[in-house]
Amino acid sequence: MLTPEENELLCRVGPDTPMGNMMREYWFPGLQSIELPEPDCAPVRIKLLGEELVAFRDSNNNVGLIDNYCPHRRASLFFGRNEEEGLRCVYHGWKFDVNGNCVDMPSEPAESNFKDKVRIKSYRTHERNGIIWAYMGSREIPPALPELEGNMHDNYSITVLHRNCNWMQGLEGEMDTVHVTFLHLGHFTIYNTEPGSMNYHQAKNRYGKFSVKETEHGTSYGMWRPTDDGQEYWRVGHILFPFYAMVPGIDNQLGSNAGFLCYVPMDDHHTLEWGVRALKPGEEPRDQSRDYIPNGTGWYDRYNLDQNWGNDFEIDREAQRNNVSFTGIKGIRQQDMAMTESMGSIYDRTKEHLGTTDQMIIRTRRRFMDAARALMEDGTPPPGLETPWAYHQRSGQAVLPAGVDWWEYTKDVRERFEPSGLVMEMGG
Ligand code: FES
Ligand SMILES: [Fe+2]
Repeated sequence: MLTPEENELLCRVGPDTPMGNMMREYWFPGLQSIELPEPDCAPVRIKLLGEELVAFRDSNNNVGLIDNYCPHRRASLFFGRNEEEGLRCVYHGWKFDVNGNCVDMPSEPAESNFKDKVRIKSYRTHERNGIIWAYMGSREIPPALPELEGNMHDNYSITVLHRNCNWMQGLEGEMDTVHVTFLHLGHFTIYNTEPGSMNYHQAKNRYGKFSVKETEHGTSYGMWRPTDDGQEYWRVGHILFPFYAMVPGIDNQLGSNAGFLCYVPMDDHHTLEWGVRALKPGEEPRDQSRDYIPNGTGWYDRYNLDQNWGNDFEIDREAQRNNVSFTGIKGIRQQDMAMTESMGSIYDRTKEHLGTTDQMIIRTRRRFMDAARALMEDGTPPPGLETPWAYHQRSGQAVLPAGVDWWEYTKDVRERFEPSGLVMEMGG
């Protein structure tokens, strides 16, 4: 349970909030490269951390991420003409380059130097394997990009989902690994699963015991239950600052998967959830277009699923009753969305009752709030910001001998790091 003040501190991410300021110090995914498919293509409305921005790709393939509002009379640059190395406001023709310089001001007399005094707010970007990363922080020289292996392979899968809830709500769902046994796998029993399989272990013992670690990247957990043969079934996951998660998943052997989830706040009530991972040799990315409503151009019109609030995620009561699935809702992500969005867009943490399996949530929230306060009070860099290698982690499930130190025992597979792309890339 949090106080009302703590809930505000944890959730609010707009300009001049402690949490928002902390997030701004990191590079994070801003949009997909394919959203700007070619030089001088149509600009895109992008909302990040409560700011309304416009992204565009100029004639030289550089990506600009600038204020939506023209500094002249505040018309939207979304309507702008993307031409000859800049985005031109169609109201009076002022033109801006990717760095925010005003490069043409045809509405003023030729002898005027007003153009040199005007800038539009612009943020740095960096493209890596399908992601346009954004830096909205205060540093003159930004930190390095986090070495997240899922984005360091040239053969990758990226999915993005619009979530109608606060960023922390989505992320807390990833700390809450015990829900998998119910929400996603509650229809499994020891009679319809293979003895000794991961699903069998979860069906056999629906509760688990937690071990939580504070780490260089944020927090990690191992949750374990006994197996029939006297060993331990472990689920291992990580939360990495400022809003990444690596989860044990449904049938993911520890160390077998290089990928991450990422909950990028659009504003306090809307989040884009990224799923990024390296494909296995020969694996094709799954065609997900059938699950989505086609993207529109509005602030909240990207990456919406056809199963959504408006249709109760197409819950099928018959399938729920007959145990086709526990929920009657198709799709793991859709099941997660139904739960975390049903709490309200910012849920009231003064009214919750957390149990022993919520330890990861309790510890991680505390870590986030402490880090945001420490940055605000004395400039202490938050976890991972200056240690890009702290992101070398993998998650998953494993059966371990009883009584071992799970963190040490799994170190080699957990810290496997085999990028095929560039390892070190400095921001700029
Ligand atoms: S409002 Fe953009 S040029 Fe006038
Ligand atoms: Fe889930």
